[in-house]
Amino acid sequence: MDHIKAIAFDLYGTLFDVHSVVACCDEQFPGRGREISTIWRQKQLEYTWLRSLMNRYVTFEQATEDALRFTCRHLRLDLDSEACKTLCEAYLRLQPFPEVPETLRELRRRGLKLAMLSNGSPHSIGAVVGNAGLRGEFDYLLSVDPVRVYKPDDRAYLLAEKAFGVGRSSILFVSSNAWDATGARYFGFPTCWINRSGSVFEEMGQTPDWQRGGLDEMLSLFDSGAAGR
Ligand code: LAC
Repeated sequence: MDHIKAIAFDLYGTLFDVHSVVACCDEQFPGRGREISTIWRQKQLEYTWLRSLMNRYVTFEQATEDALRFTCRHLRLDLDSEACKTLCEAYLRLQPFPEVPETLRELRRRGLKLAMLSNGSPHSIGAVVGNAGLRGEFDYLLSVDPVRVYKPDDRAYLLAEKAFGVGRSSILFVSSNAWDATGARYFGFPTCWINRSGSVFEEMGQTPDWQRGGLDEMLSLFDSGAAGR
């Protein structure tokens, strides 16, 4: 792994747990939190992909709010504007997975440059990372907002290559989202898929270079020159 100079991380689901909103959903709609959170996340992703296909970009916050409104209508839950605001704000206070802060610090100690590359808007990325006290761990917080198209479009991954100023083969891309790892691999990033839930990878013509069960397990890639798959 000597050739890896920098790492770009996905945010939602990779470093931060999107299901941190379950408790807040449960407060608004008792007993329905997990169901809401699951459909909300899936719809949020679908809206970003569909809007990219239609060339009808809206910010990630807007797509997130639209997805929440759909979810509540689908579940026949009455979402008033106050509850909508409360739940969307909960998305700005997601919790990092427990091993994340120390792993980021260790990667920095090993001399790697780190960036977040997220579909989130600059505001939401800054808020989520800042609220968790992790702003200092990143050289760059990169949002797709300037290119107005979402990952897995190549133009989104290009943002990381431009920011780091090194070739894509020297940038490790890390995501828990198999669709995102697929897009990154097509773009040309060496890719590590963080598979915390024992899922199967997508059938879209790519496989990740490495698969790990948590972010801390990624450190072994940098232990001994050549990394095991
Ligand atoms: C991200 C989401 C979509 O880009 O996982 O952070």
